[in-house]
Amino acid sequence: MKTAILTADKDFKRAVIDPRIYGSFIEHLGRAVYGGIYDPGSPQADSEGFRTDVLKLVRELRIPVVRYPGGNFVSSYRWEDGIGPARLRPRRLDLAWKSLETNAVGVHEFAQWCSKAKTQAMMAVNLGTRGVTEACDLLEYCNHSSGTYFSDLRIKNGAAKPFDFKLWCLGNEMDGPWQIGHKTMDEYGRLACETARAMKVIDPDIELVACGSSNLHMPTFPQWEATVLEHTYDDVDYISMHQYYGNTDNDSADFLALSDDMDRFIRSVIAVCDFVKAKKRSKKNIKISFDEWNVWFHSGAQDKDIIENLPWQQAPPLLEDIYTFEDALLVGLMLITLMKHADRVKIACMAQLVNVIAPIMVPENGSAWRQTIFYPLMHASVYGRGIVLEPALSTGCHDTSGHGDVTDVEAVAVYDEEHCEVNIFAVNRNLFEDVSFTMDLRGFGNVALKEHIVLENDDLKAVNGPFGGQVAPVARQDVDNDDGKAVCLLKKASWNVFRFKSGGRSDEMD
Ligand code: AHR
Repeated sequence: MKTAILTADKDFKRAVIDPRIYGSFIEHLGRAVYGGIYDPGSPQADSEGFRTDVLKLVRELRIPVVRYPGGNFVSSYRWEDGIGPARLRPRRLDLAWKSLETNAVGVHEFAQWCSKAKTQAMMAVNLGTRGVTEACDLLEYCNHSSGTYFSDLRIKNGAAKPFDFKLWCLGNEMDGPWQIGHKTMDEYGRLACETARAMKVIDPDIELVACGSSNLHMPTFPQWEATVLEHTYDDVDYISMHQYYGNTDNDSADFLALSDDMDRFIRSVIAVCDFVKAKKRSKKNIKISFDEWNVWFHSGAQDKDIIENLPWQQAPPLLEDIYTFEDALLVGLMLITLMKHADRVKIACMAQLVNVIAPIMVPENGSAWRQTIFYPLMHASVYGRGIVLEPALSTGCHDTSGHGDVTDVEAVAVYDEEHCEVNIFAVNRNLFEDVSFTMDLRGFGNVALKEHIVLENDDLKAVNGPFGGQVAPVARQDVDNDDGKAVCLLKKASWNVFRFKSGGRSDEMD
């Protein structure tokens, strides 16, 4: 039997997790907004047109922050189209996704939805076709109290109080040739710097995210990050990272090794940030906003067909990936990777939230349902709050076609001091062998197991659907817990959450 040992020491703290690493993303794309969060014709809609079944599931995920309105969409978006009386709003061509945008939802509706969803907005400005002026206009509209053209316009449009959005992305994927208004690294760096400076004059309390590379394989990576930060180091707070993975070769063992690539990508971006820090003799650290990540590949052929052959539809079914059980395992592995880097990764957004590469799906007629990937995100978001402990993991390895030897088990421990809980997240990504897993919780005194939650399935390709599905978590009573050490069998190909109540003496525990 293979073995793995995770040692979690209370005193070896890596970082306090910023809950915003469990963020998400809503873009004007496909049926994410129209038919996703907003569907006034649906019996499930509330009086403002927002789907209550979707809101319920979003609240279940405890999503702390939602990026909006794009994505590629933002790079040719005119935010003014989405304000004022709905009947007067223009219909426009959305150049990013070759769709028709009605503008029925704009910044007011999104702010309303955020408060219903109990989340915060992470706004993006258009630095593709627009620039400093329009970014400042939008910020003035959203955050200035009153007495100016744009703040008074907001009040006239029904929002007496400023939205007070504090987190802003300076454009989207500006390194990508597919981006409307694509720029070179110097062009973007200069524009991002000037926009950041002007925006911080309007509201010095905002935090700004500069665009990093669109993925690890961009030919301009990592020079892009270095150059952009040379221009913007003193004026921005975060650099963005984006990465999607797919099991395109139908090689599941190698697919589950892709979280190692994500880990390397993060380490490389940190190294570039720190190189520029050293060059600038700066004391400031640039933080990471991993504001697009997920599995994305199932919908490729359908998306291509719609975009190429059936363009300019209103809310077409784009990027509607149906996720398998193995996709949920990779999502779990990616979440563990993000938690391990909580010292530098302060924001991360699973892309996206509803219908579009999403944990929540909404059929045209019916109720919202949970995809396989819903569960690891929910577990991490609900139980992964607190202090991430230094990950000391000893595990065996197995061979993969593209990544060579990779670890069987990936795991991380999070200590929630406030609620006296230690929660351990673990994936056995060995597809053929169970692993005997020891959790050595030294320094915690006696611990009592509250729950062992498992996501497992004999079929790696199992999916869920509108009427339920085959992939849902179960509770197991299979942990031997004695004297600060807990031992359990990690089933081959499984996502596991162990929840312990910690305390100095057994009589302190419930
Ligand atoms: O999330 C889907 C798209 O992926 C986004 O619009 C873009 O930023 C990325 O390429």
